Amino acid sequence: MKKPVFWLLLAALCLFSLAPAWAAEGAPLPQERELTQWEMDCLALPNSRPDRLDRYAAWAAKYPEAALETVVAQVNLDQDRTVYQDVQAAANPDSTAVLVNKHYALAQDYAPELEALGWPYGSGSLRPEAARAFRAMADAARAEGISLRSVSAYRSYQHQSTTYNRYLRYNRQATVDTFSARPGHSEHQTGLALDINAANVAARFERTPAYTWLQAHCAEYGFILRYMEGKESITGYRFEPWHYRYVGVEAAKACMEQGIAYEEYLALLPNPAPAQEEEPAPEPLPEPVPEPAPFPIFSGAPVEL
Ligand code: DAL
Ligand code: ZN
Repeated sequence: MKKPVFWLLLAALCLFSLAPAWAAEGAPLPQERELTQWEMDCLALPNSRPDRLDRYAAWAAKYPEAALETVVAQVNLDQDRTVYQDVQAAANPDSTAVLVNKHYALAQDYAPELEALGWPYGSGSLRPEAARAFRAMADAARAEGISLRSVSAYRSYQHQSTTYNRYLRYNRQATVDTFSARPGHSEHQTGLALDINAANVAARFERTPAYTWLQAHCAEYGFILRYMEGKESITGYRFEPWHYRYVGVEAAKACMEQGIAYEEYLALLPNPAPAQEEEPAPEPLPEPVPEPAPFPIFSGAPVEL
């Protein structure tokens, strides 16, 4: 064998034996290789999720001027994903902390344990812990002369499908998506959300004493205003002053006191997110009050939101 050929072969053999595993098997997971300094800085942030390192890196490459904290927060908010694309199954659907939005969906056959709200709390059912909390909240409001009644609580996948498709008959899908969830993506299917007193923009619920009372007190009972004004780009929906979601007292107080959306609260939680404690609802007051007159439904306006 001629000398140059020999040396070339030897060099190739050495290179092959030294080649890292990813040369043959694709990029290794972060835990299987040495982390870069950037990755270590990323993981040092309390709210970074190790399984999202690739997404953080891709987002940072797209926005090289963005601070690391911003990159992690925005990816945790799924701002790097297009809504209704690459939809994930909602994790822990039976948890009161479950996140359901345009990125995370419930299965078609998912149905929670339910309990009717009963008279005089309005129509529908909620999960027992949310039902107890709503009754306690409505009782406390009633003691201050405020009537809180459910006009829509749990909705099955099929129910939501009918509702959403009804809106589609008269509106463009892009418009409907700003106020009605696609089936599987509605919080109403969790049994933890309800619409209080009204479910349409024309009702101007945000101008009522009931809304003011809820703003001040809903967190004490574990509820949050879920679709806030000014948070449309995060929640995916326009302001819904009537839609409240049970998340437990601790999370609710954090959201309502800081004025942040539930997505933001979850995105900022340290990793791993602590399991949420179930908070017992206060005992409801016994004496009922007469049913208030039903809220008028405006023709053409959404009635189930
Ligand atoms: N209106 C809310 C987004 C729903 O349809 O669940
Ligand atoms: Zn609603």
